[in-house]
Amino acid sequence: MSGKIARSTCRLLVVLCLGCTLTGCGNNVASGAQNFNGNSRRGADLVKQYGCGGCHEIPGIADADGNVGPSLRRIASRTYIAGFFQNSPDNMTFWIEDPQKALPGNAMPSSGISQNDARDISAFLYTLK
Ligand code: HEC
Repeated sequence: MSGKIARSTCRLLVVLCLGCTLTGCGNNVASGAQNFNGNSRRGADLVKQYGCGGCHEIPGIADADGNVGPSLRRIASRTYIAGFFQNSPDNMTFWIEDPQKALPGNAMPSSGISQNDARDISAFLYTLK
């Protein structure tokens, strides 16, 4: 049963990866703000609300000068998220929603952010080119 699920999940991942290779997902990242359906203005407010700036330097967010995690300057055009995931809108949303699920044991805590909020935050991050 679980083997079946794992296999179909695996197949899905293969299809996604192939899709990325064929359509060049990486290229979309630079123009992520345009083809991304989150609300970047709301995302900026959420970034303040969740206190991301306590750990990250974030251009455009007052007092966001933390140095626990990497600076989010030009995060929109970075190749990898956390040096691990290809930078894409979906991966960014997944990362922000639950970084501990994405990469267990990394130093960024999960804060119970909904997928909807994570999408808006991602839309904001994609304005940082
Ligand atoms: C307690 C500190 C802390 C808080 C709060 C925090 N982060 Fe992080 N964040 C980190 C650390 C540490 C990393 C590096 C993780 C890694 O590379 O494994 C990271 C990585 C990231 C990355 C990937 C950066 C890169 O260069 O690849 C993004 C994007 C990010 N955080 C966004 C956010 C957002 C948005 C918030 C607020 C919702 C937030 N973080 C809150 C500590 C934090």
